[in-house]
Amino acid sequence: MEYKQRIIITGGAGFIGSNLLLYLVPKYSDTLFINIDCLTYAGNLSNLKAIESADNYVFERINICDYTALEDCFNRHQPTGLIHLAAESHVDRSITGPTAFIETNIIGTFNLLELSRRIMEKRRADVPFRFHHVSTDEVFGSLGETGYFTEETPYNPNSPYSASKASSDHLVRSYHKTYGLDVVTTNCSNNYGPYQFPEKLIPLMIRNARNGIALPVYGDGRHVRDWLYVEDHCRAIDLVFHDGRAGETYNIGGHNEVENIELVRLICKSMDELLGEGTRSELITYVNDRPGHDRRYAIDATKIKHELGWTPSVTFEEGILRTIKWYLENEEWLENCISGQYQEYYEEMYDKR
Ligand code: NAD
Ligand code: DAU
Repeated sequence: MEYKQRIIITGGAGFIGSNLLLYLVPKYSDTLFINIDCLTYAGNLSNLKAIESADNYVFERINICDYTALEDCFNRHQPTGLIHLAAESHVDRSITGPTAFIETNIIGTFNLLELSRRIMEKRRADVPFRFHHVSTDEVFGSLGETGYFTEETPYNPNSPYSASKASSDHLVRSYHKTYGLDVVTTNCSNNYGPYQFPEKLIPLMIRNARNGIALPVYGDGRHVRDWLYVEDHCRAIDLVFHDGRAGETYNIGGHNEVENIELVRLICKSMDELLGEGTRSELITYVNDRPGHDRRYAIDATKIKHELGWTPSVTFEEGILRTIKWYLENEEWLENCISGQYQEYYEEMYDKR
């Protein structure tokens, strides 16, 4: 079939990538989606069961650090656009092992930009190619008690993860300014929802609370994150990819600041109510803080609201309850993520904390 567009999604087997593909593939039947993912510990094809046999979806197991394999894939599919999500995404892992973050987040992004530039240069001007870079609010560093990150906030990353994402953001901007590549970048706050790997705060706490394991809260637990339900992020990516202005960056956030300790207590209370036994907050254990731990993130999402009409649609109360129920109902999915490798990671990260 002749598709109107052929869009590469990198990292489509991860948390946000899976939710994005589950949203886009049924919505745009005239578009072929090519999921490029090398399936690290965080990639899980079982997330994509609902679309795996859709005519307009294909999976390519490729590491974005492998330029030759990527080039072959670009040659075969002749993409008209790319939404780049593939990354090493966990801050704690970037502290104990930064190398993969430098390779995937910087070199991998560079490879994709180079191939996109070549495609653009070979094409006629009337055949567009857009590169959408999915990034994070962590590039801005930490806020004090007040204020918000805007698109003009200076970059000030504090972890190897956020520094690698900041580097990739700069590379993306440079390909627009230098070569005229059509790029858009989105910087989003903390996502939560189905299919998130249980190293991240919310699924980790749900799993531990269900299994009666200690709930490790870093430092004094007063760090603040601005939580956004993953489907709202996916809607924002769809809007920016299709209608955002070339060369622009857009901040995306939930206007939903919550202290970590408050969030963990809410998870405990909701699970006590849902499961009807025990007082899970007794499992809360304060542990040594994360080195370089950013105190507070909060997004000013005025630009995307004014230009593209995007606002979050899922309230935190609704989203967190949906999320807790999803993990409780999908125990098999959760336990299948937990390989021997996860146990080793968990021991290294938490046992002597
Ligand atoms: P994730 O860790 O759940 O998934 C990452 C995916 O990328 C996995 O499927 C993995 O297999 C794949 N991948 C990793 N290295 C690769 C490589 N070298 N080649 C090919 N594939 C590779 O991450 P996520 O939470 O879904 O985040 C997706 C993107 O969104 C990342 O770029 C992240 O920086 C950004 N982001 C995440 C959040 C959040 O709260 N999770 C918020 C803002 C931005
Ligand atoms: O802000 C966007 C970022 O959000 C994304 O760019 C990252 O990819 C994503 O991982 C996330 O980063 P955080 O470091 O904010 O998420 P994490 O779930 O690791 O931690 C959330 C907060 O909870 C943070 O303040 C650290 C704290 N925490 C985390 C874990 C895993 C704990 O107190 N205990 C824990 O066991």
